[in-house]
Amino acid sequence: MTASPDLQTVVAEIADEMARRPDRGEVATYIPELARVDPARFGIAVVAADGTVAMGGDADVAFSIQSVSKVFTLTLALGKIGDRLWRRVGREPSGSPFNSIVQLEREQGVPRNPFINAGAIAVTDAILSGHQPREALGEILRFMRYLADDEQIVIDEAVAASEKGAGFRNVALANYMKSFGVIENPVDYVLGVYFHHCAIAMSCRQLAMAGRFLTHAGRNPSTGHLVVTAERARRINAVMLTCGHYDGSGEFAYRVGLPGKSGVGGGILAVAPGRASIAVWSPGLDASGNSHLGRIALETLAKRMGWSIF
Ligand code: DON
Repeated sequence: MTASPDLQTVVAEIADEMARRPDRGEVATYIPELARVDPARFGIAVVAADGTVAMGGDADVAFSIQSVSKVFTLTLALGKIGDRLWRRVGREPSGSPFNSIVQLEREQGVPRNPFINAGAIAVTDAILSGHQPREALGEILRFMRYLADDEQIVIDEAVAASEKGAGFRNVALANYMKSFGVIENPVDYVLGVYFHHCAIAMSCRQLAMAGRFLTHAGRNPSTGHLVVTAERARRINAVMLTCGHYDGSGEFAYRVGLPGKSGVGGGILAVAPGRASIAVWSPGLDASGNSHLGRIALETLAKRMGWSIF
């Protein structure tokens, strides 16, 4: 029998290999504040099922989690309104870019899934459900801090303002959905909360900690409490696998073989059910808007540790 590889050794090797690679992808520029991030950054953090934490590179540097926040807003919205959420947003891969509008007209304003921008905006609307934006945002932030067991998680106001100033597509998506009655709250409230939850800043370590409930069948291992039922955790993982990387989801499943959610800040949260919660960060993106080296790092990790779910 071969001994399983040492996690910390594998993580350190990956951090070293990624730091030296010349192919780093392109940093997102459509949100001006994100264009300022150094593409040489790379971080990785793995929280194993037994609680061991392995880290490499810039694992403790906070970055803009962007669409990775959509895993947590989906979880919150399901907790609030349950499976009724699926009347307002689908759970099929879109095969289109994250900010695409084309399917909305054909599908009566109901977005394909909760991870494309339109879907995440509809999910944010469900969280707001008549409350003030400040309250909804406070709820999201408290949830992140609880899951990560860390009070030091904050919103990067400069990133939120930068996205608001340039968020013309999201304004269009939200108004278009509102015209079909899919958005219930005032559009500017919904977008205010959306821009701010995308602007949450977290490190790889904090993000991997926050993802633990998806590894532990819905349970927060810090408290022993159920965040969601085991069935719901399984389903969130399923949506991450099929939709978490937009039109790059098939490629991610093929290469990495784990549920994962990317963000244009260059972060990816990946889940090896029963084994580990993993966060990687490399700001340079591929053509689908997913972290180029983040994906390669996860592919390497899953292969060396034998963690693919397939
Ligand atoms: O709405 C946007 O465009 C950004 N706040 C989030 C997009 C995103 O992270 C796409 N992910 N790869």
